[in-house]
Amino acid sequence: MAHRLLIIEDDAESNDHLVQHFRQRQWQVETALGVNDAKSILLEDEFNPHVIIADLGLPDGNILDHLEELQEQVGLTEWVFLYEPGSSSDDSRIDDLTFDFLHKPYDIKRLDTITRRALRTVLTERLAQSYSSQHKQKYHVDSFYGSSQQAKSLKTMLNKLVDIPISAMIITGETGTGKGLVARIIHHSGLRSDGPIVELNCAALPKDLLESQLFGHESGAFTGAAKKFRGLFEQADGGTLFLDEIGDMDIELQSKLLKAIEDQTIRRLGSEKEIHVDVQVIAATGVNLNEAIAQGQFRDDLYHRISVFKVHLPSLRERKDDLMELVPRIIGEFNTKANKRVNHISDASWEKLLSYDWPGNVRELRNVLERCVLLSNNEHLPDEWLQLSSSGSYNAQQAPSADHISIPIDGTMGLEDVELAMLTKALLLEDNNVTAAAKRLKITRETMRYRMKKFEL
Ligand SMILES: Nc1ncnc2c1ncn2[C@@H]1O[C@H](COP(=O)(O)OP(=O)(O)OP(=O)(O)O)[C@@H](O)[C@H]1O
Ligand SMILES: [Mg+2]
Repeated sequence: MAHRLLIIEDDAESNDHLVQHFRQRQWQVETALGVNDAKSILLEDEFNPHVIIADLGLPDGNILDHLEELQEQVGLTEWVFLYEPGSSSDDSRIDDLTFDFLHKPYDIKRLDTITRRALRTVLTERLAQSYSSQHKQKYHVDSFYGSSQQAKSLKTMLNKLVDIPISAMIITGETGTGKGLVARIIHHSGLRSDGPIVELNCAALPKDLLESQLFGHESGAFTGAAKKFRGLFEQADGGTLFLDEIGDMDIELQSKLLKAIEDQTIRRLGSEKEIHVDVQVIAATGVNLNEAIAQGQFRDDLYHRISVFKVHLPSLRERKDDLMELVPRIIGEFNTKANKRVNHISDASWEKLLSYDWPGNVRELRNVLERCVLLSNNEHLPDEWLQLSSSGSYNAQQAPSADHISIPIDGTMGLEDVELAMLTKALLLEDNNVTAAAKRLKITRETMRYRMKKFEL
């Protein structure tokens, strides 16, 4: 992602110096030599800079006089002003504005820091804005957020996979890296999107039950099989069977699965009849199957069959660049859901987000940001709710499940905050249906209304 920078500076030498400096740092740079020049770039060209560095001592006027007009007409952008203190009445005008500014002569490192900070701010604002205005198309390749090198090559691969017929494939990656998401993307954006997607978590069921779930059974096939049952292979006919945690599948069952994939036929338990099925199998695992094979827990012939197409999802700590995109987009999602308006993240919060290792990956990030957005009172992401431990995986283990909230008793959360957290979460879970939310909290609708008013929800 090239970030765009406009430099408005009349001094040629200083101009060159800045251009060189920022181009070396991968910015796409344009320059303007004066106010009029700048106005034409901003209003007529499609350059749409993220950040503008502007000298205030321009020969053809003062850019501050045009600021209001420019801000109205130009997309979201951040300004950084350079000026000679005491040179004019600008000191007080700048002080009144919330923009960044540097006195001349300035330190280029400091300018660099300020510019990067401005970029983060504007990216956050722009993404939050675009997210809420665009209707979410749920399982598109672009629903996988990220623009790091790893994410890009992953998306290139997904774009190919959705265009070809696949009989079996495997998705690997740590917990929370998006295996479930990718499986759904491949199904819903792929050739079988008109067919069903049927999901089974192989770790959740004991062997026998898993077998009858997958292949189905005739009535009386075993004790307890009163009725005949069409298994998930049959149910997924024409579509996708998503086998999550395939590493946990019993090894005997693995050979049956392999046979089903290869022959495209299955037999219900208790039946001799072969049934043809047309199913794409997407398997996912968080464990290393090569190790499982070495330990005799996974069949290598099945592995080879399903790993013809293999997608590995990198952990979040291997692609921290992507936080720049993930954080604003996820905040945008929760803003919309919870009717909040967080669009500013302090430098200190960014530091924390970027230095944390995210053992629970994107799922953990979502949980943390959800909590922060829910508990926000204004545009600022509340730093105190990040609660990222420096050493480990506090959130990975204690991350609340969908209908829970986590309450630290370490002095960060007061009783009122707890109440607020419960109210917002209940409303979120019930799509802002007050009656249903009140029910969750075991209070009457009137009490609910009263409390919502109290917290200005
Ligand atoms: N790159 C991404 N962009 C957007 N959302 C993502 C991304 N990766 C993961 N998510 C979201 O994070 C959450 C966890 O992802 P998902 O359930 O797909 O992970 P998983 O790899 O299947 O984890 P597990 O192994 O624990 O089942 C989901 O809400 C998913 O939509
Ligand atoms: Mg999953």
